[in-house]
Amino acid sequence: MSDQIPQGRWNRQPLFRGCGVKGVTRVSADTELRPVPALDLKAQYQTIKAEIDEVIRNVVENQMFVMGPEVSGLEAEIARYCQVSHAVGCASGSDAIVLPLMGWDIGPGDEVITTPYTFFATAGAVWRLGAKPVFVDIDPVTFNIRPDAIEAAITSRTKAIIPVHLYGQAADMDPILEIGRRHGLKVLEDAAQAIGAGYHGRSVGSIGDAASLSFYPSKNLGGFGDGGMITSGDEAFAKRVARLRVHGMEPRYHHHEVGFNSRLDALQAAVLRVKLRHLDDWTGARRMIAARYDGLIREFGLTDLVTTPTEQSGSFHVFNQYVVRVPEAERDNLRKDLADRKIGTEIYYPIPLHLQVCFASLGHQVGDFPESERAANQTLALPIYPELSEDSQVTVVEAMAAYFGRAAREQSRGIPRPHIFRIPEGTPIIRRD
Ligand SMILES: Cc1ncc(COP(=O)(O)O)c(C=O)c1O
Repeated sequence: MSDQIPQGRWNRQPLFRGCGVKGVTRVSADTELRPVPALDLKAQYQTIKAEIDEVIRNVVENQMFVMGPEVSGLEAEIARYCQVSHAVGCASGSDAIVLPLMGWDIGPGDEVITTPYTFFATAGAVWRLGAKPVFVDIDPVTFNIRPDAIEAAITSRTKAIIPVHLYGQAADMDPILEIGRRHGLKVLEDAAQAIGAGYHGRSVGSIGDAASLSFYPSKNLGGFGDGGMITSGDEAFAKRVARLRVHGMEPRYHHHEVGFNSRLDALQAAVLRVKLRHLDDWTGARRMIAARYDGLIREFGLTDLVTTPTEQSGSFHVFNQYVVRVPEAERDNLRKDLADRKIGTEIYYPIPLHLQVCFASLGHQVGDFPESERAANQTLALPIYPELSEDSQVTVVEAMAAYFGRAAREQSRGIPRPHIFRIPEGTPIIRRD
C-alpha cells in the first residue's frame, strides 16, 4: 500500500503501535491447516452482541418496524459520517442506484456510462429504467473505471456516469467529475463496497452528485438483511428521492409521481446505528489485515505469482475485499485447492457485465473490454473480515505457497524461511475526529 496521506479528516497513524501484534512464527508446510471462511459474520456479532440485542429488543417493544426514528437517526449519522448534507435510506444498495437515476429522470433513450467489472446491480439499475448501460473498461491496477476512456463513450444520449469504488477503493473521481461537468452529466458514486473510504481528503459518498451505499450483510457496514442509502449534497434532489422511495407520496396518500416501495426497516437501521459506531475500528482492522497479507505474500516469495492490491496516492482504501491476481491458468485450480483445505475464497466477478446473457442485445463480444475480462479470469478474493486472526492469514498464504510449490521448494533447497513477520512501519489506520 502507498504511504500517501490524504488530507482532511483522515488522520493516519502508525498502525501497529500498541496493537499487541506479535510476530508470527512459521509453521512447517505439512502442519495441519485449519478452516478459514471467506467471511465470518458470527465472529463480529459476538463482539457487539449486548449492544445489538438491546436495540433489537427496543424496536420489538416499540413495534415500529418501517422507517421512523431509527431510520431518520441512521440517515443523519450516515450523512455526518460521509461528510454530506443529506442521506436517504432505502431497501437495498440496488435501489440506492435506481432511485437517484429516477430522481434525474433517466429512462428510455438515455445512456449511462459505467464499468463492466462490478456487481450486476450497477448496470441492472440502468436497464430496469429502460436506459442503456454503456461500458468503459477498467484500469488494470485499481480495477476501477478508466477516466481517460470515458469521453470516447459519451454520446448526445449520455445522461450520467456511475463510477464504482470497487473492493473499497475510490475510483479516480477528479477527472470523472471534470468530464461530467464539461458534458453536463450527473455523476453517481456506486459506493456499495466503500463506506469510509477517502479520496484526496474527501469522503466517498460526498464526491459525486449523489452516491449509493449498500448495507448487505457482507459489506463493511452490513445489516441483518438488505438495506441501502443514497447520499447527496442537493437538498431538492434528496427530497425527491425520499419521496420516490415511498411511491412518490407526500403527504400521506397524495402521489405526485410514480415511485415504488423501497422503505428501510427500523430493525436494520437500529442494527446499523450500533455497527456504525464500530466502523472506524473495523476499517483499521481491515487495513491491518491487508498489510499483513501484503507482507506474508512477500515473505513466502509469491510476488511473481500473486499480485497484491495497491492503494493509490491520495486514496484511503477500506478493503471490503482483499483481491489478488494470480495466473489465469492457475486461478480456478488454486481456488479449488484452497477450498479442499477449507479456506474460503470468492471471485468478484467471474463474468464481466458486457458478457452477461441478459445484456446480449447490447451486442458485445469477448475482447470488447480486455482488462475487465482479464480481471474476471485472474482475480481471487482472500478471506477478510475485521476479526480474521493473524494465524488464519498465515494459514491462507501458506496454503497458497504450498499450492504453488513454493514452501516445499524453499525447504528442499534449504533456504532459510523467515520466522518473523512484521507489519511495515507507518501503515495507516483510519481515525475520525
Ligand atoms: C458495487 C455494488 N453495487 C451495488 C450493489 C447492490 O447492493 P445490494 O446487494 O444491497 O442491493 C452491490 C452489492 O453487492 C455492489 O457490490
